[in-house]
Amino acid sequence: MSVTTIDYGKLFSAGLPDPAVRWAPFPKYYFVGGNNDPEQIPIEGLVEAAASVLRREGSKLAIYNLGMGPQGYPGLRQFVADKSARQRGIKAPIEDILITTGSGQGLDMVSKLLVNPGDTVLTEEYCYQGAINRFRKLGAKLVAMKLDADGIVIDVLAQQLAELKAHGITPKFIYTIPTIQNPTASILPLERRHALIALAREYNIAIFEDECYADLLWDNVEAPPALYALDPGCVIHIGSFSKSLAPALRLGYLIAGWDIMSRLLPLKGDSGTGALDQMVVAEYFSQHFDRHLGHLNSILRGKLDAMTEAVAREFGAVAECWTPKGGIFLWIKLPAQIDVRKLVKPAAAAGIVFNPGPEWAVSADNSSNCLRLCFAMPSKETIRDGVAELARVCYEQTGIPVRSGNITRS
Ligand SMILES: Cc1ncc(COP(=O)(O)O)c(C=O)c1O
Repeated sequence: MSVTTIDYGKLFSAGLPDPAVRWAPFPKYYFVGGNNDPEQIPIEGLVEAAASVLRREGSKLAIYNLGMGPQGYPGLRQFVADKSARQRGIKAPIEDILITTGSGQGLDMVSKLLVNPGDTVLTEEYCYQGAINRFRKLGAKLVAMKLDADGIVIDVLAQQLAELKAHGITPKFIYTIPTIQNPTASILPLERRHALIALAREYNIAIFEDECYADLLWDNVEAPPALYALDPGCVIHIGSFSKSLAPALRLGYLIAGWDIMSRLLPLKGDSGTGALDQMVVAEYFSQHFDRHLGHLNSILRGKLDAMTEAVAREFGAVAECWTPKGGIFLWIKLPAQIDVRKLVKPAAAAGIVFNPGPEWAVSADNSSNCLRLCFAMPSKETIRDGVAELARVCYEQTGIPVRSGNITRS
């Protein structure tokens, strides 16, 4: 019901985004959104952590930012510093760490710091939609960096940079998700990391490193050090607790030296990220991080296996999956004649939501036959049934796949 008694249409500011659609409950087969597995939220551990930190430090909540400055609760910044040193090779004092309201806030701040309308920004050809949208909203022109199974193809990038330079264009920054890329879930090898940094320095381009998924690695997988560890002088680094713990907490972090941090802090635009959340996560993770992540990753691996098996069974050879080295999503390529955007409506009618490739890519040209399926939140049974339903919808719309499970369709 609308209750406005004046004409707000005459009052709204110029250039507003499209109005929101009302939220609707998740359908049965919900394969989108970076959600976590509800059964893996360590409820009792969080209850204990909350009680203990509140008893010890709860009175500080009376003061904005706990009376400890705008960069966040020192206990959580110390945890980020320790974890980043141990697992990502980053040597950063807590003065170089900012707790953000989700890493999405870090994306907003860095975009505002660097992008003017018309600027060129390089992103991976398949890329997190939230980043693409943010950069475009500020008027950036996106240039796609080619990906293979190991992430950015450096030779092609070197050529692109030379060509851009020949046209008088210096990109502002390279946005990359080098460790469990979204959506392909690849890991950029060490030599490519060094080569990327060499190019950034040669052309005076910042690197914006997003390590949203770097904690979600399979057992036998090792990631090279973060780009920030290799050269903090040209890299701004963000990470998140959304995937390692819970997205509804809205906690992320940003790492940058003071020259950059001092320009970013005025862009934060709130009166501090929720302090109780920070205190609880610091209390819980400073004792239980490794155990929690080891367990979570083994569960996620099992769900990925259920999904890849279901895709192989239901779609057969027509679906090519990129092989995830961790994370929560599977990027799938279907035959070139399928435009997945045409599957969105009929799939929704069957209770299935998925990410069509063009929404997760710089261009629709090489992504209209691709799709992303998230596997962390649904149960294995839902994954199996949902993928079978998706194959059925796909067959009805396109005649592909002809064989699915035990069924030959014709
Ligand atoms: C690559 C990447 N970066 C950043 C985000 C933002 O996450 P959050 O704001 O929950 O930390 C996401 C969310 O899915 C993501 O996939």
